[in-house]
Amino acid sequence: MIFVLLGPPGCGKGTQATRIAQKYGLKATSTGEIIRGQMAAGTEVGKAAQSYVKKGELVPDEVVIAMVKEELRSQSGGPGVVLDGFPRTVNQANSLADILTQSGLRLDGVLNFVVSEEEIVRRLAGRRVCEKCGASYHILFMPPHKEGICDQCGGALIQRADDAPDSVRERLRVYAKQTEPLIVYYRERRLLNDIEGIGTPEEVAVRVESVVDRIARGSRPV
Ligand code: AP5
Repeated sequence: MIFVLLGPPGCGKGTQATRIAQKYGLKATSTGEIIRGQMAAGTEVGKAAQSYVKKGELVPDEVVIAMVKEELRSQSGGPGVVLDGFPRTVNQANSLADILTQSGLRLDGVLNFVVSEEEIVRRLAGRRVCEKCGASYHILFMPPHKEGICDQCGGALIQRADDAPDSVRERLRVYAKQTEPLIVYYRERRLLNDIEGIGTPEEVAVRVESVVDRIARGSRPV
């Protein structure tokens, strides 16, 4: 199974991608995580991406498309992939369709998380991530057992540089201009499934699972 998770920054894509991957035995692939990994490792790609990410802009399509192509190639023959944060432009969506066709695969569904801007700002202001393993927390909604320490690996929890207010404003602007058109793109292809993203992560996960189960049974949205 191949799924795309769509939605504005902070809507819960990463949180739900981890859950879907665990529940259905799929691989969660976050382009944001891959890019941050490259930045931390100081690779050429990471250095090139740094200024875009910090400002809240999209990394150029050709860089991200090459990453995803490589990731899907390495997963070919596996149980499936949850793409978190890709595609984000119509050009990326067309490339994904081409890559899948060339590999004899198809996109099973797109989960579009619907969350208000007010809630997004609250979520991003309180997000903390582990600098060692990347696990994500929220100081109010998903706190770690011990303040400032990752439950999973004991690493320090930090605020992402692009969660600063200026950067968040830019990410929301970029989302509206470049990524939101994908809602119509995937609706026209009868792949779009809206998911109400408000509620606890567990409540959202129940909605996600009912959609994934329906898709797994072979029925698509009308
Ligand atoms: P990326 O890392 O993908 O950032 P994003 O899309 O802005 O999404 P976020 O990671 O901010 O949020 P999320 O939706 O995953 O929410 P989360 O689950 O963490 O990308 C970063 C940058 O990389 C981009 O700006 C761009 O520069 C570049 N990039 C990445 N992909 C690219 C591409 N395809 N093309 C070009 N450039 C690309 O949740 C947020 C917070 O809320 C957390 O604290 C969480 O604990 C909490 N939370 C989650 N669910 C709930 C809930 N139900 N109730 C309460 N709190 C909740």
